[in-house]
Amino acid sequence: AATRHYKFEIKMQNVTRLCHTKSIVTVNGQFPGPRIVAREGDRLEIEVVNHVHNNISIHWHGIRQVRSGWADGPAYVTQCPIQTGQKYLYNFTIIGQRGTFWWHAHISWLRSTLYGPIIILPKKNTPYPFAKPYKEVPIIFGEWFNADTEAIISQALQTGGGPNVSDAYTINGLPGPLYNCSTKDTFKLKVKPGKTYLLRLINAALNDELFFSIANHTLQIIDADGVYVKPFETNTLIITPGQTHNVLLKTKPHFPNATFYMTARPYVTGLGTFDNSTVAGILEYESKTELHLKNLPLFKPLLPALNDTNFVTNFTSRLRSLASPQFLANVPQNVDKRLFFTVGLGTSPCDQIKTCQGPNGTKFSASINNVSFILPTTALLQSHFFGQSKGVYKPDFPYSPLNWFNYTGNPPNNTLVHNDTKLMVLPFNTSVELVMQDTSILGLESHPLHLHGFNFFVVGQGFGNFDPNKDPSNFNLVDPIERNTVGVPSGGWVAIRFLADNPGVWFMHCHLEVHTSWGLEMAWLVQNGKLPNQKLPPPPMDLPKC
Ligand code: C2O
Repeated sequence: AATRHYKFEIKMQNVTRLCHTKSIVTVNGQFPGPRIVAREGDRLEIEVVNHVHNNISIHWHGIRQVRSGWADGPAYVTQCPIQTGQKYLYNFTIIGQRGTFWWHAHISWLRSTLYGPIIILPKKNTPYPFAKPYKEVPIIFGEWFNADTEAIISQALQTGGGPNVSDAYTINGLPGPLYNCSTKDTFKLKVKPGKTYLLRLINAALNDELFFSIANHTLQIIDADGVYVKPFETNTLIITPGQTHNVLLKTKPHFPNATFYMTARPYVTGLGTFDNSTVAGILEYESKTELHLKNLPLFKPLLPALNDTNFVTNFTSRLRSLASPQFLANVPQNVDKRLFFTVGLGTSPCDQIKTCQGPNGTKFSASINNVSFILPTTALLQSHFFGQSKGVYKPDFPYSPLNWFNYTGNPPNNTLVHNDTKLMVLPFNTSVELVMQDTSILGLESHPLHLHGFNFFVVGQGFGNFDPNKDPSNFNLVDPIERNTVGVPSGGWVAIRFLADNPGVWFMHCHLEVHTSWGLEMAWLVQNGKLPNQKLPPPPMDLPKC
């Protein structure tokens, strides 16, 4: 295995999209940011140097960080942010993982411009469980805001109002021809006939789950969040913020005399305001004559309706882990701790002079088990490691909702959430079963929940109230999908299992950025085991201070 070095210089850069120029925070002046490539087993050393006025912190989304929690990156969870003029070396080894991951800023809303792909290839001489593709292409979805996203979020936090919607979705940073003043900013995938392309799809959008399709082509899904699945074909897929999918695209055997749009647009279950526009890129077959290309007919894919929950449910139920002898699905068969979390929006008292935009003069808040998470002003992992939790966090995250909850009954009359910093403590190697129930108290919305430090198995999913007497008998403990981000369906629930074998403090949150800002998150504190290789090592010397 090798050690691979990267240097991330965080600096401002003028970028123009939709005829609107703004100065954005970038890595090395690039937008989207640079690609990280490594092999399973490699060590990555990424030096991040902060040259901007904002505090910075970078997360390596989906990388398990086995006993390297100091490198995980969420600000105030595993580290204090890197302040202006300072630097930090993220140092970690890729253990037991290969696939598509990504990195993004994990502080405030800076990930709107600070993100890029991480590609982990299998170990040398280890083939993919499918024929080697002709080419591999990362496709990263994002959102472009003409306005300053930091201003948008501070307004959303003060008034508890919805955020301004973005002005465009993007493919590899480009909005494409369906937006005004954007035709020249179109992602083009040039392909040869009769070949197989591996598309590494990443949803880095801030606030929207996306449908994706390529006109007149099928996609073969082969992996989700860096774990192989039983391959299946589809015309369209759904990808939530935080998820990745590897898909195979077989091009047509002969030059098709046409070009094809690839498009993405949101899946929306809530009411509220959202951007329902469509980003398009172009699949272009290489031709000897440029002239010929210009006059080709252009085909557009048909995407599901914006609120097509049936499509989403059908698609996610087709995802099964490959569970082959080489790639076992190590689903925990026994459970030490059964937990039930409600996730959803709520309200908190309006503390501003400005009008708050929630019901009855409150402001919108979001919570898990009615606890709206408040980030501390120092880092949780540090406080835990040095035994200084007092005044920073409480180890008593509730096992079940604090407010009475019944989805199919009357909505609870108390939507008020409790603001606090509470952690759920797990002894090393606890096998956890967690049911997450969407409360749909203030609007039906599905929530992509992301867990740091672990993959989990999605053993069950349903609509309405989870029934602890009936539903577990239908759990899939044989070949459930293994991933790090799962959509808790709007008006429904999802059940996951994971083994807490990675000591540290691990964030879990909705990957819709505005919900994270409103407090839809919590953290797990996984204690050290007894053996030396079951303990979190001390922090690196250059760990930033608050
Ligand atoms: Cu992709 Cu906590 O994040």
